Amino acid sequence: MKKVIIIGASGHAKVIADIIIRSGDELVGFLDDNTELPEKIIGYPYLGKISDYVKFRGCLFIIGIGNNRVRERLAGEMDVQWYTAIHPSAQIAMDTSIGEGTAVMANAVVNTSARVGKHCIINTGAVIEHDNCLADYVHVSPNAALCGTVSVGRLTHIGAGAVVKNNTSVCENVIVGAGGAVVADITESGTYVGVPVRKLIKNK
Ligand SMILES: CC(C)(COP(=O)(O)OP(=O)(O)OC[C@H]1O[C@@H](n2cnc3c(N)ncnc32)[C@H](O)[C@@H]1OP(=O)(O)O)[C@@H](O)C(=O)NCCC(=O)NCCS
Repeated sequence: MKKVIIIGASGHAKVIADIIIRSGDELVGFLDDNTELPEKIIGYPYLGKISDYVKFRGCLFIIGIGNNRVRERLAGEMDVQWYTAIHPSAQIAMDTSIGEGTAVMANAVVNTSARVGKHCIINTGAVIEHDNCLADYVHVSPNAALCGTVSVGRLTHIGAGAVVKNNTSVCENVIVGAGGAVVADITESGTYVGVPVRKLIKNK
């Protein structure tokens, strides 16, 4: 049984807590910089600020924070062993790789020969089809579907229910809005929405 501490204590962190417990590992508690949190979060202790992680030798850590850039920063700052959380209902096919610190939520699918980077989030019911290649700090939101042989760059966020057509690349630092359909390569960072997606230009 692994002893695990979650960095962050928000809704996303609570979902990771559930995965840890269902996996038969021990949830030691939560570290978060909001010092006004209650003593217990869903029945598990609030242990202190993130910088207190140094007090917990022998524990594994996972960053339960949805913001991709915050996960990137913390992963760079913390010299610890990372926990990879995979919900027991997730389907992880043969010949896949999932990087350290990544969370794969309930009913997600990572299909054959897919590669998922470090500190990614494969959220509830997301589909990562065969031969996908996801860089580090990517978030694929609930029910999004990445068809076969899609590649996704670092820090990119695919919104809830979005679809990325097979054999398509999405570069780094992109946000695909909820419900968007990516049907051609995205080669420039930015926010893209709609069916098919177009770059969101804000005038205000
Ligand atoms: C795309 C997104 C990032 C834009 O957020 P934002 O920068 O705050 O943009 P705004 O809400 O100001 O919207 C700007 C415009 O884009 C439109 N828009 C926003 N999101 C859209 C979407 N997903 N699809 C289509 N149009 C969208 C708005 O209607 C608005 O249009 P208008 O200027 O004609 O009124 C956000 O709406 C979104 O979809 N985020 C993904 C959420 C998600 O999947 N979360 C999962 C967490 S687990």
